[in-house]
Amino acid sequence: MYLPFLSRAAQRRTCASYIGLLILLNLLSIADVLGQKAVTYTEHIAPIIQSNCTSCHKPGGAAPFSLLTFQDVARRARTIQSVTQSRYMPPWKADPHYVSFANERRLTDQQIALIRRWTESGAKRGPEVARTASVPTPEKAPSVSPT
Ligand code: HEC
Repeated sequence: MYLPFLSRAAQRRTCASYIGLLILLNLLSIADVLGQKAVTYTEHIAPIIQSNCTSCHKPGGAAPFSLLTFQDVARRARTIQSVTQSRYMPPWKADPHYVSFANERRLTDQQIALIRRWTESGAKRGPEVARTASVPTPEKAPSVSPT
């Protein structure tokens, strides 16, 4: 590389940092590709649904249909995508911008994005996952309060 306004040593340093930058960019794009790996029901979606939806969406629950099984969820993938994206589900009345409550039941942007990617990539089932990997975390288990 010929940079007339820099000393030879500075040119070499500049060159080295360009190479470093290129390597870094390369690593970032590899990470990006890995980050885009397939979203599946068993690996990503089931834990979200179990922690945030099945307290109501189960047989005999408050909601009109169950979301307990893969079939239940896959059949409604599009609707689930739109109601989560619009934040219609899970039901939540308080404005998240002002207060946050200990048992708040909102999905994160990341969870909503996962649901969207899952739906758009054909709502795949995915591999069997050890049960422990998909057990909902207790602090996310919603309590139903009619406020
Ligand atoms: C507090 C109870 C409760 C929770 C938690 C809940 N739902 Fe619901 N859901 C309902 C009820 C009740 C209805 C039917 C009335 C309505 O559509 O508002 C419903 C309706 C729906 C519908 C149909 C909407 C339509 O337009 O036909 C979808 C899809 C849905 N829920 C998905 C979800 C998903 C996904 C989650 C978790 C992220 C979730 N729900 C969490 C109670 C709940």
